[in-house]
Formats: sequence, structure tokens, C-alpha cells
Amino acid sequence: MDEMDIEALEGLIKSRRSIRKWRQDEVPNELLKKAVELATWAPNGGNYQGWSFVAVKNREIIRKMADAVQAASDMIAFWPEAKSWEEDVKRYQKNTSFFRNAPACIGVFISDYRSVMDKVLLAREPGDSAASRIMGFRRTAPTAIQSASAAATTMLLALHQMGLGAIWLASPLMAKREIETILNVPAEMSLVCLIAVGYPDESPQKDRKPVEQVLKFVY
Ligand SMILES: Cc1cc2nc3c(=O)[nH]c(=O)nc-3n(C[C@H](O)[C@H](O)[C@H](O)COP(=O)(O)O)c2cc1C
Repeated sequence: MDEMDIEALEGLIKSRRSIRKWRQDEVPNELLKKAVELATWAPNGGNYQGWSFVAVKNREIIRKMADAVQAASDMIAFWPEAKSWEEDVKRYQKNTSFFRNAPACIGVFISDYRSVMDKVLLAREPGDSAASRIMGFRRTAPTAIQSASAAATTMLLALHQMGLGAIWLASPLMAKREIETILNVPAEMSLVCLIAVGYPDESPQKDRKPVEQVLKFVY
């Protein structure tokens, strides 16, 4: 890669923002398909590619998913335990189902992924403290989730390069089962996140901490 290339890449990475307001124009299937295809080139554990994607443009189905997420969010906000963080909870509750206005949504799913190490560790875990300790570490950042996240990141960049505005949504997990049912996916497919997408109707700004604050070299 020459210097121009890295500048172009930097421009793409830094100009991508999460978009929460969209124009109502339809998103062409070919663009969604291309973005998912590029996402599948993301690094992933053992190149197992245990991910799958469901693209939805049917507004009724998107609305049903949003309603399910809003219902879960409303229920949580109503619990007495939410009182301690009332303002934050209210703000969250107000912002959980804006994706109902998205012209398209892509569900990112994983299937049950076990690396060979997991197979050994799981077989030995009962009654062996070293195996169970290592399995505990692996569970803090499951490979399948890391892989799906790499795909989601790649997809967001691809969509941005296409002039689309997207957002990664973890909050729909509050209604995971409901969404899996609405999308009619087989039992082995487990929802990780939704990517809501459309042509952007806002240009939000965001900053980042300076790299010196988050990076430490160890010699
Ligand atoms: C794992 C993950 C989950 C997220 N979940 C949500 C969400 O549920 N709702 C939401 O509005 N934004 C969500 N976002 C978007 C973040 O709020 C956003 O990426 C962050 O504020 C930085 O803004 P930027 O993407 O415009 O740089 C999520 C982002 C990531 C990476």
C-alpha cells in the first residue's frame, strides 16, 4: 500500500459515523449483498465462518422487531431497580427502537462455534480447575463473537463507502428470541447484533480520545 492508499483508508475510517436518521429511499439489494460479501472477508476464528446474515427491507418486519425491543426496554425501565438510574434509563428507553425508521436491517448471527481447544477444554472442564480456569478466560471474549464483530465492522465501512449510513445495534439483544422468531431463523442461529441501514439524513460528529491516552508500548 502506498501513502495515498493509507490516506484514503484513514479518510474512510474517520468519516464513518453511526447514523440514526435515514431518508426513506430504498436501499438496493445489490448494495446490501456486496456489503455482506465484503464483511465475510473479515478475519474470523479458524476461518470457520460460522456467521450468517439476514437482510430485511420489509417495513412491517422491521417494525415488529422494533416493537419487540421497545417492549423489553419499557419493561426494564418500569422495574423498581431502574429507579437508581432513572434519567439514564429513560434516555436509553427513548432511544432503543429508532431503527423502526430504517429502510433496511441486517441481522448478524453466529452458529455454535467450538475450536479444537474448546472441545478439549469442555471435555476436561468438569473436575479440572486448570481447564475450567482457561475455559473461563475464553468465555470472556468468545471467538464467535469476536469474528461476528469483525464482520460487522467491515460491513459498516463497506456501507459507508457506498454512501449509506448504518449503525451497529446491540440493544436488540433485549428481544433476542423474539427477533429470531420474527426473522424465522433456524434454532442454531444466534443473534449478535442488528445493523440498521439507509441513506443518511443526518451528519453527526464524534470525537475520539487521543491515541496516546489509549495506547501503551511495552518494551
Ligand atoms: C457493539 C456495539 C453496540 C452498539 N449498540 C448500539 C445501540 O444499541 N444503540 C445505539 O444507538 N448505538 C449503538 N452503537 C453505536 C455506538 O453508540 C457508536 O458506535 C458510538 O457512539 C461511536 O459513534 P460513531 O459510531 O459515530 O463513531 C453500538 C456500537 C457498537 C460497536
